[in-house]
Amino acid sequence: MNELVIRPLTVSDAGKVYALLKASFSIPGEYEDTLNNLSNPLTRAIGMFDGDDLIGYGAFWLLMEEAHVTHVAILESLRGRGLGKNIMERLIQHASDCGARFMELECRRGNATALSMYHKLGFLRVGFKKNYYPDTNEDAVVLALIALPAPNFENDPFLTKE
Ligand SMILES: CC(C)(COP(=O)(O)OP(=O)(O)OC[C@H]1O[C@@H](n2cnc3c(N)ncnc32)[C@H](O)[C@@H]1OP(=O)(O)O)[C@@H](O)C(=O)NCCC(=O)NCCS
Repeated sequence: MNELVIRPLTVSDAGKVYALLKASFSIPGEYEDTLNNLSNPLTRAIGMFDGDDLIGYGAFWLLMEEAHVTHVAILESLRGRGLGKNIMERLIQHASDCGARFMELECRRGNATALSMYHKLGFLRVGFKKNYYPDTNEDAVVLALIALPAPNFENDPFLTKE
């Protein structure tokens, strides 16, 4: 494995992102959804690369003071090595640097791995959404991280600099 690089993603990365989503989620959406999400000005998306290969993906929508996580995924063959936690930590710092005050997300009630990861990162359960996932009618657990790290606005990787 090469040294891993984490960088902001753009629409030019959509093909790689969609391939990872299809491999990671039972409802990956359509390719156009990924394109639209990456071109949405509210979206902040980062990718973890091993050379040219996208091995991790994380994204949130910046909704006023809320950073709403839309996806986090690690290539299946590389899970369980701390990469998911690593990309989430980067996403949390980016959220703070972009001006968010808290982070929220939904997670399948049966996704024990993700729930364990989020709890270790400090997320708290704030509610449920009944029958949220249309493929299985599974409930969503709503989790929130209410204390983000201190911001460094100059580090906002999505700032357009002169
Ligand atoms: C959830 C996901 C991103 C975690 O990524 P990962 O790289 O495997 O996770 P990490 O190795 O960083 O582990 C972080 C924590 O997750 C938990 N975890 C990881 N693998 C686990 C397993 N096999 N069983 C139970 N918990 C596990 C542990 O709490 C772990 O912390 P620890 O290392 O201190 O024990 C990954 O499993 C994934 O891509 N899943 C499919 C997509 C998905 O479900 N996304 C979340 C949607 S809400």
